[in-house]
Amino acid sequence: MFRSLTIMLVLTFATTLSFASDPKTSKGVVSVAAAGLNGKEVFLKHKCNNCHAVSTAGIEAKTKSKAPDLVDVTVRHEKPWIRRFIRQNDVHVSCPKVDPLRDGKKHAIKFKGTQDEEDALIEWLDQQRSGK
Ligand code: HEC
Repeated sequence: MFRSLTIMLVLTFATTLSFASDPKTSKGVVSVAAAGLNGKEVFLKHKCNNCHAVSTAGIEAKTKSKAPDLVDVTVRHEKPWIRRFIRQNDVHVSCPKVDPLRDGKKHAIKFKGTQDEEDALIEWLDQQRSGK
């Protein structure tokens, strides 16, 4: 019983994945294998670099904005909070890199990626550390 449930879940997941990697539905991003999702690609696909630089990854912000360089963001903030913040489920909390006037405000955009994309993105952000 438990086993067949597991198989069903795996099948559902596989179907969802093959759907997601259909070139017509995935908007130009071809490599959509769950475990192989690349956080940097997710970051660029969702245009986070319109506002944010990530200097450890050689990414520059495309526009001038008050958005901080996301280097060390997982040092400044807890990962679960970052997940809620980019989904606009939480407001900004005090942070040395961000003007205190932003505290209590919602993030500029709502991240609309899948759960897999969110996981890859957070994992990749966690790797962007200056070592300081
Ligand atoms: C339209 C500009 C814009 C875009 C696009 C954008 N951000 Fe932001 N982001 C900001 C600004 C401005 C802040 C500073 C805090 C605030 O105003 O909410 C911020 C803050 C953050 C923070 C908190 C940083 C800190 O040190 O407190 C994280 C994490 C973050 N953004 C992640 C992302 C991710 C991931 C994406 C892409 C899905 C993204 N942002 C896209 C403007 C943007």
